[in-house]
Amino acid sequence: MAASFGSATNLTSISIFFLAILILFLTNFSFSQSTYPTPTPWPPQFHSIMIYNTSGTNQIFDLWYDYPNGRNFNIIQNQLGELLYDLEWNNGTKFVYTLDANKKCKTVKVGFGILTPDWLHGANYLGQRRMDGFLCNVWEKVDFIWYYEDVVTKRPVHWAFYTGMEGHLMTFEVGAVLEDAKWQAPVYCFESGEQADDSSQLNSVVDNSGSSMDLVKRKMLIQEF
Ligand SMILES: *[C@@H]1O[C@H](CO)[C@@H](O)[C@H](O)[C@H]1NC(C)=O
Ligand SMILES: *[C@@H]1O[C@H](CO)[C@@H](O)[C@H](O)[C@H]1NC(C)=O
Repeated sequence: MAASFGSATNLTSISIFFLAILILFLTNFSFSQSTYPTPTPWPPQFHSIMIYNTSGTNQIFDLWYDYPNGRNFNIIQNQLGELLYDLEWNNGTKFVYTLDANKKCKTVKVGFGILTPDWLHGANYLGQRRMDGFLCNVWEKVDFIWYYEDVVTKRPVHWAFYTGMEGHLMTFEVGAVLEDAKWQAPVYCFESGEQADDSSQLNSVVDNSGSSMDLVKRKMLIQEF
């Protein structure tokens, strides 16, 4: 009698033990399911053609992100205007220049390198929205950038800066690399004395384009330290 009672108790405690494990597993499972999605890190190298429409000003950006080689390029075509090369290196030097007869170049010591592939880490998830015809997960980082990623393909679709500058990604070629020769800033970028000339006009163009990303990086750096 006592023996069978005892084994029944054993059986019960074994069941409870397994039930506990099951509950633990299920709880854990539902935890991971309710976790907010995180932005997909950028591939180490990609090329994107982007269209920027900022308060009625249109620009085409050729973005070449090349993290292994520590370089990032924005080739910016202003509508019926200047073709501007915005080249940055991981050592914190940035060259903004034209390759036309005007031979403009401005060297900027930005003081920080290019974005890391996981630069969106820690962004706040805002839910899903439709953007440019795609259902996107949306994140916001440091009140500076709003980032839209396609729910299905995980590709970036759109990003918007607090300045009102909005970029639409038209292509996203993972692994595409611009040939080395194209990354060479022209010789007049290295001639001293000439750089101040024409830079005011260049400045206004730069402020209207590439610098938003610089500001994001600066702000993220400030946040990190
Ligand atoms: C560009 O932006 C302006 C104002 O921000 C807006 O009126 C216009 O519709 C936009 N154009 C496109 C093609 O999105
Ligand atoms: C950073 O690297 C680029 C490309 O190699 C070079 O042209 C530039 O002079 C470097 N800047 C500094 C401050 O070393």
